[in-house]
Amino acid sequence: MGFFGAGSILQQMQRMVPVIAAALCVGSALPAQVAQAGREPRNTNWEMLGNASEMQHHSGLTAINRDNVATLDLAWWVPMPIVDGLVGNPLIKDGIIYQGGPSAAIFANDVKTGKLLWSYEDTADFSKASLSGYWGRRMNRGLALSGGMAIITTGDCRLVAVNEKTGKKVWEAQSCDSTQMYGISAAPRVGAGLVFIGNACMDSGTTRGFVDALDAKTGKRRWRFYTVPGDPAEKQDSPLYDMAAKTWGTGWYEKSHGCGSAWDAMTYDPQLNLLYIGVGGPSPFDPSKRASDAGDELFTNSIVAVDATTGEYKWHFKETPHDGWNYDATVGIMIADLPVGGQTRRTVISVPKNGFAYVLDAKTGKFISGSAYTDLNWASGLDADGRPIIKPEGQYWLHPEKANIALPAPSGSHGWEALAYDPASHLVYIPNMVMPTKIETDPKALVGGLLMDFYYGSSGDPKWQSYGEVVAWDAVANKVRWRTRTDLAINGGLLHTSGGLVFQGMADGRIVAFDALTGKELWSRQTGGAIRGAPSTVIVDGVQYVIVPTGNGTAAATGSYFSKYSTTPQSRTEPRLLAFRIGGKAKYPQLATVEPINRPEVPRQDVALATKGKIIYESYGCVDCHGMNADASGGRIPSLIRRPPADLAYLKAVVQDGALSKDGGGMPQFKDLTDAEAESLFAYFTNEAWDAHEKKGAFRP
Ligand code: HEC
Repeated sequence: MGFFGAGSILQQMQRMVPVIAAALCVGSALPAQVAQAGREPRNTNWEMLGNASEMQHHSGLTAINRDNVATLDLAWWVPMPIVDGLVGNPLIKDGIIYQGGPSAAIFANDVKTGKLLWSYEDTADFSKASLSGYWGRRMNRGLALSGGMAIITTGDCRLVAVNEKTGKKVWEAQSCDSTQMYGISAAPRVGAGLVFIGNACMDSGTTRGFVDALDAKTGKRRWRFYTVPGDPAEKQDSPLYDMAAKTWGTGWYEKSHGCGSAWDAMTYDPQLNLLYIGVGGPSPFDPSKRASDAGDELFTNSIVAVDATTGEYKWHFKETPHDGWNYDATVGIMIADLPVGGQTRRTVISVPKNGFAYVLDAKTGKFISGSAYTDLNWASGLDADGRPIIKPEGQYWLHPEKANIALPAPSGSHGWEALAYDPASHLVYIPNMVMPTKIETDPKALVGGLLMDFYYGSSGDPKWQSYGEVVAWDAVANKVRWRTRTDLAINGGLLHTSGGLVFQGMADGRIVAFDALTGKELWSRQTGGAIRGAPSTVIVDGVQYVIVPTGNGTAAATGSYFSKYSTTPQSRTEPRLLAFRIGGKAKYPQLATVEPINRPEVPRQDVALATKGKIIYESYGCVDCHGMNADASGGRIPSLIRRPPADLAYLKAVVQDGALSKDGGGMPQFKDLTDAEAESLFAYFTNEAWDAHEKKGAFRP
């Protein structure tokens, strides 16, 4: 690509990979598995999410490389005994793969054969959990290994630690209260002898976000850091929150309790003993529903650094002031040592949902550089302090009379899917989701007065199209080097290896290896199932394996919500684990045969009633699990258009009486749903099924 002149520094560096990699071992926190002068160790581990605390999803291994990747093939695959898709980054230690899944499932499989050695599944009753707890139950983004234990979250606010050799439970701990609007879907992070965990409020605005640190040996709580102030009518926990409360404007607490959920990214820095917490946005996310004189609404949409041992606040950096788009900062935080002004500086690289990538000084939080890596229409750039220059025309709440397009979408240009990084070239690899979303203000809409068309980018408007990308963003030069393009927007997390490769699993079931320098596609195979998790790689007995879980299922918010962007009907298969090696000889698993959308047995229902039903479907949060257009992405959650409820009585038994809520099946009871609402839901599902059958409307399966 044009960016690279002949004999550019990057190309030279790539040729010298083994030497550079060896040099990097000195004084760096990279694990000892980095290749030494071309000779690889015989055995390595991938013990932490992202391979190391720095969360770079980088491996120094070179046995699989750009010269031989064409002969990379399947070593083995196994079906996994769970219905929901697996999206956590597989951890690998001493030849055993540890994979986390929904319902706090943990699986231990042999790296060389795939054989299941043991499994653990949480069977606790969670029927008292709030919607957020139910939702957390259906998704899980992985686990942590610490002190001989595998640690996972349960969805309904608990953490469970099991012995990594036997799968027997060692301790269990409660973090949030899942009867309130709290749930957990994240992988716990570990460091400094502690386990760090945040929570999600499902953008409700009814709860106060926080992060807990638990003793890794016992599960006992050591500290709690609140991400937003408490009730201003009472004494705040400390002067820090007196300061924070002043940034929320007049009468804010009557409108919102803030949320500020740290629902995913947190990164522990072993050198500085700091924990970098990414905080979600304020809720409700339409600013006209919050205080009109609000300032920075701290610490929402910020990166906050706290002392890992005590939880004491150190610094914060605000990324999206006056957020109206749900641009959480709780996705994608890594640590990298970068050359800045002739010196090596320890930096925090943050890639939140808002379309910008930032480099911050790790010690002070001071902005070093940053830029947009994708098209966006809410800001024209960053100022010298890293504050966005917001465009008034992008602020939909100022133009209630017209339809606006949000880009990035409220689900973000980058979600929780893993970033990767190459320490030699300083390229940050970003799985980018381009999903232009139409937002209209409608006071009648129950979802915060907003009507949103998330699939607008597939409606045929040539100006606004949806697609997916891998973007290589140079963290030193502060600019994009290359980008790939694929039809579906929501694909898997990334892995970079010193073999000069970037791996990504795709919504359509392919796994692809790109040239890390140019983005050229070098290799791909069809795995038979949608992929969201990031692959991991290790060497065992001298053989390098690339391990990836499949099965999008219900396992990820954006996955269930945006089923048509995160899967194809063919890639909605059972969850599986796959391993690739050079010269692998296993037979590939198959894609699914697509379930036809049959002619509904019930005739079309009243259109006005169905329109009401759509609003109820979205405002009650049915959409969070059953997906846009009621077509779920697989796993435990049924598609309500492929098999619509047979009659109103059945719908009422399931939804109002909770007929399916008790056996761990995970369909919450909605006691307060009125009979009239149930009728309109029935009309909505019936008509949606008819539309799908007759392929009416845009982007039908
Ligand atoms: C937290 C996720 C979640 C939410 C929110 C949710 N559901 Fe469900 N729903 C499920 C799951 C899981 C099942 C399957 C349960 C089982 O198989 O035991 C299900 C099953 C159903 C079924 C039965 C389908 C069949 O084929 O038997 C209907 C109807 C349904 N849901 C409607 C709704 C409606 C209406 C709402 C909103 C008021 C809603 N759901 C909200 C997860 C959810």
